[in-house]
Amino acid sequence: MNTPHTAVEAALTDQVVARFADTPDARLKALMQALVRHLHAYVREVEPTEKEWFAAIRFLTDTGKLCDGLVRQEFILLSDTLGISMLVDAINHRQSVGATDTTVFGPFYIAGMPERSCGENMAVTPGTPAVVHGYVRDTNGAPLRGAVLDIWQTADNGMYSGQDTAQPVGNLRGRYHTDADGYYAIRTIVPVSYPIPTDGPVGRMLAATNRHPWRPAHLHFMIDAPGHRKLVTHLFNQGDPYLDSDAVFGVKPSLRVAYEERAADHPLARRFGLDGPFREARYDFVLEPR
Ligand code: BEZ
Ligand code: FE
Repeated sequence: MNTPHTAVEAALTDQVVARFADTPDARLKALMQALVRHLHAYVREVEPTEKEWFAAIRFLTDTGKLCDGLVRQEFILLSDTLGISMLVDAINHRQSVGATDTTVFGPFYIAGMPERSCGENMAVTPGTPAVVHGYVRDTNGAPLRGAVLDIWQTADNGMYSGQDTAQPVGNLRGRYHTDADGYYAIRTIVPVSYPIPTDGPVGRMLAATNRHPWRPAHLHFMIDAPGHRKLVTHLFNQGDPYLDSDAVFGVKPSLRVAYEERAADHPLARRFGLDGPFREARYDFVLEPR
C-alpha cells in the first residue's frame, strides 16, 4: 500500500530540518531550521499549484533584479510593504523606554550628504518654506551636543534626489549638528505625501491586492551621538490623509508633528533668513544609551 501523502509531506519537513543539524553556528542553525519549518507550513497551508509556485519564484527573481544598491532596493520595499521591517523594528526596540520612537529606514538614504550649519536651507527645489527645530537629549534630559542629524525628504514632486535625476543630489538632504544646548534647526520645505515606487513587482503586488502605495508626508532622521544608540525615525505631518493607511505601516502617534503658520516678521524668519511667511515645526528627540 502507498504511504499516505500527508505522512510523506511531514516526513519531508523533518528530513530537511535534520539536514541542518550539524550547522556549526548555533544561531544560523536556529534561523535555517525555523525558516524551513515555517516555509513548509505555509506551503502546506496554501497548497500552491506548480504554476503558482513558479509565479512566486518569478516574482522574487524580478524583485532581486530591481536592486541596485543605491536608490532602488525592491527587497526593502517588499519587506516594508509586508510589515516585516516594522516587525523587526518593534522586536529590536522592546527595551527602549523613554527614547523617541523609531520607524522604517526605507530605501532612499544616501550617505555622505552635505554638512550643514544650524538653520541652513537644504531645499533647492520650491515648496512651502519651513523651519523644523528642537533639541536632542538623553533619557535623563541632558542635552546632547554634537549629535549628527542626517536628514532626507522628497521634493514637492514626491521624488527623492538620486531617484529623480533632475534634482541636484544634495537637494533636501544634509547633515545637521546640535550645538552646546543640544539644539538643532533645519530650513526646508513642508514634506508632501508620495507613493512608493510602483513600477516593479511590489507595485504589481499592491495593485493586484487593491492596496494603495501612498506614504503620509514625512521627514527622515537618522540621529547619531557618541555613546548613544543611533535613532532612525521620521516626523510625520499632522493631518496627512494617509496617516492611518501608510503603505509601509511606519506611523507611530508620537511621531506626528504640526507645521504651524508663521508670519514673515516672526523672530525665526530673521534668524534663519526667511523673507516671507513660513511654517514652523518643533520636535525634541531623546536618544537612549548604547
Ligand atoms: C521612505 O520613506 O523613504 C520609504 C520607506 C519605505 C518604503 C519606501 C519608501
Ligand atoms: Fe520617505
